[in-house]
Amino acid sequence: MSFPFTILRRLPSGGNGDLFVGRRNDTGECVVIKYLREWQFEHARRAFAREMRVLGRRVQGVMPLLYADINARPPYYVMPYLAGGSLTRYAGRLTGNQMHAIASELAQTLAVLRAAYIKHGDVKPDNVLVSDDGRLKVADPLGGGVGCTMLFSENHGGTPGYWAPEVRAGGPISYAGDVRSYGAMLYELLTGRKPQDEQPLYLAPKDYARAPKICEIIVACCQPEPDSRPSMHEVLRMLRGERWADIQVERKQRACTRGFGAKSRVTCGVTWIGDFWRKVAQPDERTFQHLTETAYVDGPRRLLAQLPKWLKRPRRKWQGGNRK
Ligand SMILES: Nc1ncnc2c1ncn2[C@@H]1O[C@H](COP(=O)(O)OP(=O)(O)O)[C@@H](O)[C@H]1O
Ligand SMILES: [Mg+2]
Repeated sequence: MSFPFTILRRLPSGGNGDLFVGRRNDTGECVVIKYLREWQFEHARRAFAREMRVLGRRVQGVMPLLYADINARPPYYVMPYLAGGSLTRYAGRLTGNQMHAIASELAQTLAVLRAAYIKHGDVKPDNVLVSDDGRLKVADPLGGGVGCTMLFSENHGGTPGYWAPEVRAGGPISYAGDVRSYGAMLYELLTGRKPQDEQPLYLAPKDYARAPKICEIIVACCQPEPDSRPSMHEVLRMLRGERWADIQVERKQRACTRGFGAKSRVTCGVTWIGDFWRKVAQPDERTFQHLTETAYVDGPRRLLAQLPKWLKRPRRKWQGGNRK
């Protein structure tokens, strides 16, 4: 199937592709055509194919794919034209309520992506587009993420400033990495300053006054340790009013309960072995009592020290009749 269109003008392009605004010849609808710039390189073609596959899944809140040709030279795909442009142009000019609405919509989209097992790998304001009616579409996903550009081919994806420290160090893209990039993106949208590698994200008192919840989310999402960051579901809970400190307490309690579950299973196992031993081996009642007392008082090492002595004791002879 062909997709007839006429190219109208060039768009300011990012790192990966050459983008043009065009018009569909059949319907007259405005579209954007993205051509892969470094199409001679196998790794770039693979990453581009992955990008197409992710867009082709039509995930809610993600830019939909209208047409794609990976075998063309250069390969390209076609998507709807979003007249609002990217979120970058709104950075530093948003009210507290607008920040809250943007944070919620993007957290929702990233949570849906997470549920579909898709890591975006390059979350930043440049890759979020605004439609005429103010809806947001997340674009330019790396999918599994392998060497996005020639410049960063040794990395697995992402953009300096937005990427998580572990991704910057050469690690794979991850859901926790997307959370970090989401936090850095909110920081830029709120303050108007681009996040920089190895520079703490400074939030002024006026930022806290304008959007306290967003500041709390930025700090939580930009933790250096991936495990200390919230999931996108937890971010959504924070946006609904819950405090990160309370969610963290709940997390710890859940971890404790899980640990207790494991411990109690071990305790049950040990008790069962003890019962089995008493019934089958039938040691002298006094010895058994002594052994267990020792175990409680002096710990397992003393118990083990007693065992060889106990094993050498002569077994009671069975005298016939029923055992009591
Ligand atoms: N569908 C679209 N509608 C309007 N502008 C777009 C669209 N897609 C991309 N752009 C513009 O082109 C820029 C680069 O697009 P992107 O897909 O991110 O390419 P790259 O992979 O090169 O970063 C975006 O930041 C945005 O400004
Ligand atoms: Mg981009």
